[in-house]
Amino acid sequence: MRPHFTVGLAALLALFASDVLAADFAWQTIGADTYATVCAACHQQDGQGVPETFPPLAGHAPDIMARQGGREYLIRLVLYGMDGVITVNGKHFEGAMPPWGEALTDDQIAGALDHALTTWGNDKPGFQPIVPAEVAAARVNPMAATEVYALRQRTMPAEAAPTTPETLVSFTAEQAGRGQTAYRRACQDCHGFNLNDGEFGGAPLNGNYFSKHWGNGSAAALFGFLNTRMPPDRPGKLNPQTYADLTAFLLSKNGYQPGAAELPADPDALEHLSMKR
Ligand code: HEC
Ligand code: HEC
Repeated sequence: MRPHFTVGLAALLALFASDVLAADFAWQTIGADTYATVCAACHQQDGQGVPETFPPLAGHAPDIMARQGGREYLIRLVLYGMDGVITVNGKHFEGAMPPWGEALTDDQIAGALDHALTTWGNDKPGFQPIVPAEVAAARVNPMAATEVYALRQRTMPAEAAPTTPETLVSFTAEQAGRGQTAYRRACQDCHGFNLNDGEFGGAPLNGNYFSKHWGNGSAAALFGFLNTRMPPDRPGKLNPQTYADLTAFLLSKNGYQPGAAELPADPDALEHLSMKR
């Protein structure tokens, strides 16, 4: 067990000296090495990522850094990983970014981020390198990958609602009923009868938790998440209609009113259906 508390205190003290550290932290070599050996496997050596699979960092990382809280988000993202559908330049990425907190040192994490923030034309005037002490400080309060995703949605609210969907999401009562049957069979063991009282660690699927994670986006985000992640032992193995029905059921349990049209099982159509009330 890592002594988080001790590390954290030392890190906080070190933060007071971070101006000095920024000058002292020669991130160029360690950053380029870490990026090449770890990050490039997915984001590619040229920072362009892989369409549909790994988001680009070229032309994108500085936009994150420029947001309020962006710096903190980037550090936590690399430490704790991230899980959830994201939008970058209008394109969706549904994969998971692995956590690197165990495998990499504070210097490597800060260095890899600084490399990504200054390469491929990403360098911006006034750039303040992320220093190891900031990474150490962020280790004090560990986060789950889904919490990092929620942090991203707070940090980049516009990207959380990718195509500014116009129409409020819609589903029928009958569809929500089918979703309920599927839920009882495939989800209830973990998420509970009341959606917030599961026995095997399933996250709450209602209340504030739900609206924070899903309430700002399109129905495609929730549908996509279910499709790629649930149930955890066989994601994507239910049929698309069942995922749409489950989405309708979760909507019905979160105060959305049924209407005349079914929720479609087509991700492109779901993009246009807003969950924002
Ligand atoms: C195994 C593949 C993989 C590796 C290795 C990897 N990443 Fe990622 N990264 C991803 C995926 C997938 C996402 C999108 C996650 C999502 O959709 O929730 C992502 C997201 C990101 C983002 C956030 C983009 C945004 O818009 O919020 C940054 C920044 C990032 N990675 C940096 C890094 C750095 C730095 C490293 C090396 C320490 C690294 N990644 C290593 C797969 C990877
Ligand atoms: C084996 C236990 C298990 C089963 C079965 C399961 N889940 Fe999950 N679910 C989890 C865990 C654990 C999380 C949180 C970690 C994660 O996001 O992967 C989660 C997260 C979620 C989330 C995201 C909650 C949030 O806002 O972060 C949704 C939505 C969800 N599950 C829906 C479902 C649905 C619908 C089913 C049935 C098809 C299902 N789950 C089946 C364990 C389970």
